[in-house]
Amino acid sequence: MSAFKPLVFSGVQPTGNLHLGNYLGAIKKFVALQETSDCIYCVVDLHSLTAQLVHADLQDQTRSITAAFLASGIDPKKHIVFNQSRVMQHAELAWIFNCVARIGWMNRMTQFKDKAGKDRENASLGLLAYPSLMAADILLYRATHVPVGEDQKQHLELTRDIAQKFNNDFSARIAELGVGVEIQVGEETVNGFFPMTEPLIGGPAARIMSLRDGSKKMSKSDPSDLSRINLTDDADTISKKIKKAKTDPDALPSEVDGLAGRPEAENLVGIYAGLADIGKEAVLGQFGGQQFSVFKPALADLAVDKLAPVAAEMRRISADHAYVDGVLRDGGERAGNLAETTMKTVRDIVGLLQG
Ligand code: TYM
Repeated sequence: MSAFKPLVFSGVQPTGNLHLGNYLGAIKKFVALQETSDCIYCVVDLHSLTAQLVHADLQDQTRSITAAFLASGIDPKKHIVFNQSRVMQHAELAWIFNCVARIGWMNRMTQFKDKAGKDRENASLGLLAYPSLMAADILLYRATHVPVGEDQKQHLELTRDIAQKFNNDFSARIAELGVGVEIQVGEETVNGFFPMTEPLIGGPAARIMSLRDGSKKMSKSDPSDLSRINLTDDADTISKKIKKAKTDPDALPSEVDGLAGRPEAENLVGIYAGLADIGKEAVLGQFGGQQFSVFKPALADLAVDKLAPVAAEMRRISADHAYVDGVLRDGGERAGNLAETTMKTVRDIVGLLQG
């Protein structure tokens, strides 16, 4: 049992269009969690510099992700919405974590390997250290829960590794200052400053795949726009993309087991389930035995029904720069106060002279 105050944190990068994977795998969960927890949602603009250093439109992308949060129903008054670069303590804690984490841990990250490609020596140091900044995002608020899609699982395991190593390396100092909290790590109870944050991954939409290839995840960087549904797509585009989505010739099965070995069918059923807030079993209960010629139009109607109002609201909010910037400023101030409280203690633990 953790004695940390329950707190949800998650982040989205302002790179490229938000797609259905981001929406179902992450943002919809952010919205639901507001009912039960205190939440901090961050547009991680510093992270996006690892993908592309020179961005002509980084500010607009940051506003657009913020607008997506708000249009989806995140309440910036009850919770905190801000962009990462406003709170400099993220970069400060990331530096300390760079000194805690090991290069070998970073080299093992599959996202680093994918993004760096063959020429790893030439990848930026920022790309290698990306997970350290992500751990800092989460642990700066000592967040206990992080809703994300399946692709972030390894980064969250690393966040726990960093928290655990920090707690161990500084255990004497944490005890001396009396700033520890009892936490359970496996069988052991230890006195740590950072929690063992739990990932919240799951449900039918934790890993939405490309509409063109059921073995690849839906992604902002796929060169084919037909591979993804963007939150900004209009109704015709959504219908066309679903109509063109790759499938197999068989009818849908009546049981979830029947989706094994049929990645495209499984993906479309997962998307329907995610949009309708039901399980895959319920989708197959309704459409089992039907051909894709019946299922695809029903899925297109559902997608348009659920996404069009979000897209319209997103367009409206994005255009109001003064409002969006005000939300981020206010959120940044509140996040900054929490962050500084943590950092004061972290600086003491590490032995940095302040005051
Ligand atoms: P990012 O910006 O790539 O994606 C944002 C969220 O969308 C989820 N996601 C998906 N879920 C299901 N199916 C998909 N095809 C799909 N594609 C993306 C991601 O899992 C993510 O939850 N490293 C993070 C950003 C980050 C962060 C953090 C997240 C930085 N600091 C701290 C949580 C906590 C990223 O690049 O997400």
